[in-house]
Amino acid sequence: MKEVKACLFDLDGVIVDTAKYHYLAWKRLSQELGFDFTEEDNERLKGVSRMASLEILLSIGQVVVSEEEKLSMAEKKNKWYVDYISKLKEDEILPGVKEFLTLLRENGIKVALGSASKNSMLILENLKLIPYFDAIIDGNKVSKAKPDPEVFLLGAKELGVNAEECVVFEDAEAGIEAAKRANMKAVGIGSIDVLNKADKVVPGFKGIRLEILEF
Ligand code: BG6
Ligand code: MG
Repeated sequence: MKEVKACLFDLDGVIVDTAKYHYLAWKRLSQELGFDFTEEDNERLKGVSRMASLEILLSIGQVVVSEEEKLSMAEKKNKWYVDYISKLKEDEILPGVKEFLTLLRENGIKVALGSASKNSMLILENLKLIPYFDAIIDGNKVSKAKPDPEVFLLGAKELGVNAEECVVFEDAEAGIEAAKRANMKAVGIGSIDVLNKADKVVPGFKGIRLEILEF
């Protein structure tokens, strides 16, 4: 590929394991509604926007409600979720992430966030990671959710680089698809079984060197 000029990072599941907090908050909502929501069900919500996640949850419980009720349920779930992430500390940054972000900076490679979460700023602030990013694209800036490539294309634009010069780090299938549709290279963080459309898959950032950017 062309020389890599920028790396774009998903947040939930790549930089910090917030999936467990999303799960706890969705589970609490499902219990209020009178059905169970398993960890396996939760896999289906990874990378998916808040409202789309709620639709999946309601379909699992076979619950039918009005649009207005959906909005208040999503708000309720978000309040519980925000309670959890308000307590996030730097030690919850996933292993190797900070070191890799530092390595990129030292080598002149730009860094952007590309997340569906509207809570991205709160999370990055609590983790004290804001100075590591040259651009932050979150759920408040995009109108189309992954697998649409909008979030990553906007990231490249804000960084002033071409899509073909970008590498995306993602833990969700929808995110890998978004990266490929943006014409970027995609590194999956997690398991090859789930992320088989990625150009490469690694279990995490621990010990990762710049060679990860060679394709
Ligand atoms: C994604 C998560 O990063 O953000 C999803 O993987 C989540 O699980 C989505 O639903 C939206 O997050 P938020 O914080 O705006 O509800
Ligand atoms: Mg993710």
